[in-house]
Amino acid sequence: MATIQINGIDYTLPDHEKLNAIQAAARFGVEIPYYCWHPALSVVANCRMCEVEIGTKDPASGEVKWIPKLVPGCQTPAKDGTAIRTDSEKVKNHQKMIMEFLLLNHPLDCPVCDQAGECGLQDYSYERGQAVHRFVEERTINPRKQVSPTIQLNQDRCIMCTRCVRFTREISQTGELQVIRRGHHAEIDVFADLAVDNPLSGNVVDLCPVGALLDTTTLHAQRAWYLTKHDGICTRCSSGCNLSVETNKGRVWRYKPRHNPEVNDYWICDAGRYSAGDAHAEDLLPGCFRLETPGADHVAIEPLEAVAELGRRLHTIAAEGGAILGVIGPYQTVEEAFWLASYLKSLGERITLALGPVTFEGVDRIFAPDKRTGRSGDTSFVVPRSFVIRAEKAPNRLGVEAVLRHFQGEVIGFKAALEQVAAGRFQAVHLAIGSPIDWIDQTTAEMIRNHVSFVSLTDTRISPLAHLADLVLAGATAVEKAGCYVNAQGRLQRSKAALPPRPGTLPDLDIAALLLGRADLPPKSSQALAELGQTIPAFQAVRDGVVPPLGVVLEPLKPDGSALDNGAPPAPDGFEPFQDTWFLPKQERVEVSF
Ligand code: SF4
Ligand code: SF4
Ligand code: FES
Repeated sequence: MATIQINGIDYTLPDHEKLNAIQAAARFGVEIPYYCWHPALSVVANCRMCEVEIGTKDPASGEVKWIPKLVPGCQTPAKDGTAIRTDSEKVKNHQKMIMEFLLLNHPLDCPVCDQAGECGLQDYSYERGQAVHRFVEERTINPRKQVSPTIQLNQDRCIMCTRCVRFTREISQTGELQVIRRGHHAEIDVFADLAVDNPLSGNVVDLCPVGALLDTTTLHAQRAWYLTKHDGICTRCSSGCNLSVETNKGRVWRYKPRHNPEVNDYWICDAGRYSAGDAHAEDLLPGCFRLETPGADHVAIEPLEAVAELGRRLHTIAAEGGAILGVIGPYQTVEEAFWLASYLKSLGERITLALGPVTFEGVDRIFAPDKRTGRSGDTSFVVPRSFVIRAEKAPNRLGVEAVLRHFQGEVIGFKAALEQVAAGRFQAVHLAIGSPIDWIDQTTAEMIRNHVSFVSLTDTRISPLAHLADLVLAGATAVEKAGCYVNAQGRLQRSKAALPPRPGTLPDLDIAALLLGRADLPPKSSQALAELGQTIPAFQAVRDGVVPPLGVVLEPLKPDGSALDNGAPPAPDGFEPFQDTWFLPKQERVEVSF
């Protein structure tokens, strides 16, 4: 155990933790303000905002020997005997001077700046700055630049912390950004008029502590304080990055990364980030439909009527000895897959279950920062963690496969299932998909239609099969439902509902609950998860229906292969992630109940 003193009080830290003074103080509820330091980037100590009094405590006498000048907390290890003073007049005066210095050339843009409400300059000006401004010289006015199709640089708001520069050198390792010129003429710029062009580019907006780097896809769309934050999981690949889903007035406005050191660290990729519009896509199914006459238009029906008809039709076909294929896609949560598979298998002997289509694009892209590449500052506090964009563009193949394996001992892939359909083996096919990307072409849809007498589909978007199916049920998009996904590491993570389902739709868990004739409606995903954990041994870790904040690795589902590991040591028990607060203000997180 290391004993450190903060503002006169002794605290202990476990020996294995290598923290700087900012992290150690935060652990015990003491805030040291900072700008340029970021827990995943090397330390450059250039903003000087975190300077505090540092000393060494003599264990025998208890006396502290203070260093005469202030020292950057970001660069100071919190080791046994370290004493930190954050509340002295000397420290407070220093913070006032730094704020005055950083604001010398800063425009009064708050009313028109997207960062307002989650801005490091606003917060520290209010808490630690001064109202008086002594600068009378002419201000430097820098031009606004478009540094990528989605990122705008407002140079006159920049405080030259170089977080963005270090991100492109150390994490994306693409190095597009640099500091040009010197002194008060210094500016951030892209190299040789190129753009910030890498799959992680949007993260520079998140880690900019002020309103200098802004996302043009949401520019001036919402004020930060109107947004309500919900804990979500990205469904655009099998990494399962942790998201903050931010909504206002029934709409998702943006996705921001939510720190999970075991999965995505502080980042998300651009493909995930810019899929925030999935819940409002123009091609979403507007409701449930029935095909009354082949070749005619579908007729709109109420969701409850559609579920009742689905149950009737499948029951009749099974009772007459017909064979039914149930397809469960990798966008379904484990709870939905479990209840739907339970229902379908309860229909009789001639039920086959298959996995829905799994889309792959290219190969896994692994960003593997280490302690050296691209880094020029102090790296002693950095824990390098890989970030992986998976080729597998689905969030829950492993989870759905585990459910299928439980019910029929094997996993039949979509291709093999289609071959059986083409061979005329089935009288009915029911597909539960919910994919935000295209998953079926016209030829395949027609093949299914031509070989089966009854086709039903629950999905979120209009697809070629939706035009041909006998019964179409509109399901909820990923942000409109709660449930768990098992990512490529075998880690089960919970995504909470951020919006209620659109009118005319039902979450797939509700559809399965109605088909099962359950009395406990509306269904709770935690109840389904508990039943799943008590039924299928692979999910035993969640048999009480509770998922830890960082998720839980289901050992039986964990794939082999070091490339799937993000390189970080496992978080110790009681691990408290350090949130970089500029893009995630300490605000209560909300789950929608409906
Ligand atoms: S960067 Fe912050 S302080 Fe500056 S204008 Fe924007 S909101 Fe205001
Ligand atoms: S643009 Fe933002 S992140 Fe980059 S140096 Fe300026 S203030 Fe820092
Ligand atoms: S945060 Fe320590 S000097 Fe900038």
